[in-house]
Amino acid sequence: MTDKKLERSAIRGRFLHAKTVCDPSSCTDENIQHFEDGLLLLEQGRITFFGSWADGKDLIPQDCPLHHHQDKLIVPGFVDTHLHFPQAAIVGGYGEQLLQWLERHAFPAEKEFHDADHAADMASFFLKQLLRNGTTTASAFCSVHAISASALFEAAEHTNMRLIAGKVMMDRNAPAELLDTPQTSYDQSKALIETFHNRGRLHYAITPRFAPTSTAEQLAVAGALKQEFPDVYMQTHLSENLAEIQWVKELFPQRENYLDVYHHHGLTGPRSIFGHSIHLENQEYDRFQETDSVMAFCPTSNLFLGSGLFDMKKARDHKIRVGLATDIGGGTSYSMLRTLAEAYKVLQLQGQNLSPWDALYAATLGGARALSMDHLIGNFDVGKEADFVVLDPQATTLQAKQYKRVDSLADLFFSLVILGDERSISHTYVAGRLVHEQSAQ
Ligand code: GUN
Ligand code: ZN
Repeated sequence: MTDKKLERSAIRGRFLHAKTVCDPSSCTDENIQHFEDGLLLLEQGRITFFGSWADGKDLIPQDCPLHHHQDKLIVPGFVDTHLHFPQAAIVGGYGEQLLQWLERHAFPAEKEFHDADHAADMASFFLKQLLRNGTTTASAFCSVHAISASALFEAAEHTNMRLIAGKVMMDRNAPAELLDTPQTSYDQSKALIETFHNRGRLHYAITPRFAPTSTAEQLAVAGALKQEFPDVYMQTHLSENLAEIQWVKELFPQRENYLDVYHHHGLTGPRSIFGHSIHLENQEYDRFQETDSVMAFCPTSNLFLGSGLFDMKKARDHKIRVGLATDIGGGTSYSMLRTLAEAYKVLQLQGQNLSPWDALYAATLGGARALSMDHLIGNFDVGKEADFVVLDPQATTLQAKQYKRVDSLADLFFSLVILGDERSISHTYVAGRLVHEQSAQ
């Protein structure tokens, strides 16, 4: 159910958010705010009041519709900092590690995106998947075809989602149908930037797939684009798999390490998002810190493809911004709740910790900060865009039983992280508009 005309509304319920940035991505009670009976007032997609029902109820304009979400938990919309639009439907391809998986599952699916109708159908499917999982902002790789990026941008614009996306640049080591050239990748990326970047809530990311599928010449072109358009994002993959890293060493023997391949071409920086970033040398962590580059932690994908365990402690020690990511379709779930559950387990295996509040932060304000959007989204601050999710803590019979047992809000949120999935997403709102309602499915 979508109420397109809604410009002003009042939302009553139990609210939870990270009210301040946690540094370095480790949250305490001080960072968190909770209203047992709270009120959010929205106008033209933005938050005009956030506080307790008692403090705000007299501010509700007379003709303003009021939605009361009882027995639920309302949190900011989830931010998925790395995933692949053309892999929307290939989740769960059996039996391989990264390089074989790309050949067998990812590339064949991506070939289909030369077709504009297919791209448009899949864009609608993909965004619905995000919204039914409570994800309201994402940073997405498209296929090599410019048409795949325009299809996704147009669908996101239709829903008024804040979205980063980019056409993949890839001029070697992939099937011929999926290759561009330095010149065509430059021309097409530039045209897409000029059409879509900063149009409403859309942003462009220069998207060299990863070092093995780009020549040095193409990476130089990516760097030139970044210089030409400094507020555009850059997204790629880094140090996901040991065979991949060995391959990069052979392809770029003159570079000090994998990150140096990108750095050398001007591709590090505050708007540069590096998917995976698992097997890094100390010098690479230092360079992340020096350049304020961003890591995308993709736990379900890293486990599924047997890639390795992300070292959150090292990232925290270096004060590196880390976003959480599904990495669909290498990742196995669109749900950021499930992704958090796997993140928790990955850290457990290394004697590290993801507290309930770290988890809330990682999926919301921390993700927004990783994408340099924390002034726009990520919590319920007045003036921010009203992207939020109504969680049902009793979506399953098991959860309903647990609901009666937990005696703190942190425990309640943690049980949602460990047991939750798309069934937990009761309603999703984007820029103040209801865009997904579970009971209407
Ligand atoms: N490295 C290069 N391309 C990809 C991709 O599509 N998925 C993952 N997980 N890693 C990659
Ligand atoms: Zn990826």
